[in-house]
Amino acid sequence: MSLPFEIRRNPNPRNDAEREAILANPGFGLHFTDHMAVASWTAADGWHESAVVPYGPFMLDPAAAVLHYGQEIFEGMKAYRQADGGVALFRPEKNAERFQRSAARIALPSLDIADFISSVEAVVNVDRAWVPNLAEQSLYLRPFMFASEAFLGVRPAKFVTYCCFASPAGAYFASGLKPINIWITTTYTRASRGGTGAAKFGGNYAASLIAQQEAAYHGCDQVMFADGAERTWVEELGGMNVYLVTTDAELITPELTGTILEGVTRDSILDLAADHGLVPVERRISIQEMLDGIAAGTVTEVFACGTAAVITPIASLQTEHGTFTVGGGETGEVTAALRSALLDIQYGRAEDTRGWLHPVL
Ligand code: COI
Repeated sequence: MSLPFEIRRNPNPRNDAEREAILANPGFGLHFTDHMAVASWTAADGWHESAVVPYGPFMLDPAAAVLHYGQEIFEGMKAYRQADGGVALFRPEKNAERFQRSAARIALPSLDIADFISSVEAVVNVDRAWVPNLAEQSLYLRPFMFASEAFLGVRPAKFVTYCCFASPAGAYFASGLKPINIWITTTYTRASRGGTGAAKFGGNYAASLIAQQEAAYHGCDQVMFADGAERTWVEELGGMNVYLVTTDAELITPELTGTILEGVTRDSILDLAADHGLVPVERRISIQEMLDGIAAGTVTEVFACGTAAVITPIASLQTEHGTFTVGGGETGEVTAALRSALLDIQYGRAEDTRGWLHPVL
């Protein structure tokens, strides 16, 4: 039986003028809409108490396990205003499936794919006025689940809370679409075999923060991690996957070895590659091979990708040994073409031949 997300309306929603002021310049992750979907889980009763309620803080016991042992997972997805005025999600079943894989890894309960999607649809539906109309903007959705049981023993929680809220969003990087600079850390790693790297687990992001600070110290926008075992192979950035374009028309991204997040954007780009005359390649690529390729001019473009980052061009990669500027530091042609192709599908400007759009309104 699927979970009902009955709507309990916010008695004090933002008025039109307040909402329009936010939508004029939403930034990323700064503003939240008037409602959120919630559900509770107990080991005894499974999922229950599902509803759409006014957006607001949780009451949490100080002993709630998430506050001590970080048992938490999340997703990131977007609702896009369509060229015809409707609203659609992009491949929401991919996020729902990954949410189940993340839950299994962090010993949280599984939420049915249909329940995950209907919670997201319910939030978009009730807060439809918050879906931006402006180019490059969208309604970012943040489904997440955490251990709400008050218990200090280290074991999977028997009470869990699910929530999905929404946040109108512009570009993830404050500099907008300007190519970004990447610091390659040799101090920190993000994941190791058998660890949590493939899960969308809050702890992975917490562990990346110090490396992100290191990147900022070196004047960079994002950090790149090498693998944990050999510290040789390109893995991913602080919160996004990475791609390389070569002179022999290969579009290379690190293969999934259980330590890299299985990005929905990453997967979509693999599928789009052939439309652009590119050969998609998932393989191990060493940091050295990448930097040598940039220096020799055989790696012509590098870009980051993710739901929040979309496709963000990379201007340079920096290490203790120097700066490797990619393609003169400008956005490359392939990066720009893939970005436009992806956005055209997401915003309903191009025919959705792959059935990726999931109309909500
Ligand atoms: C996303 O791209 O949706 C993420 O969750 C990554 C985070 C850096 C915002």
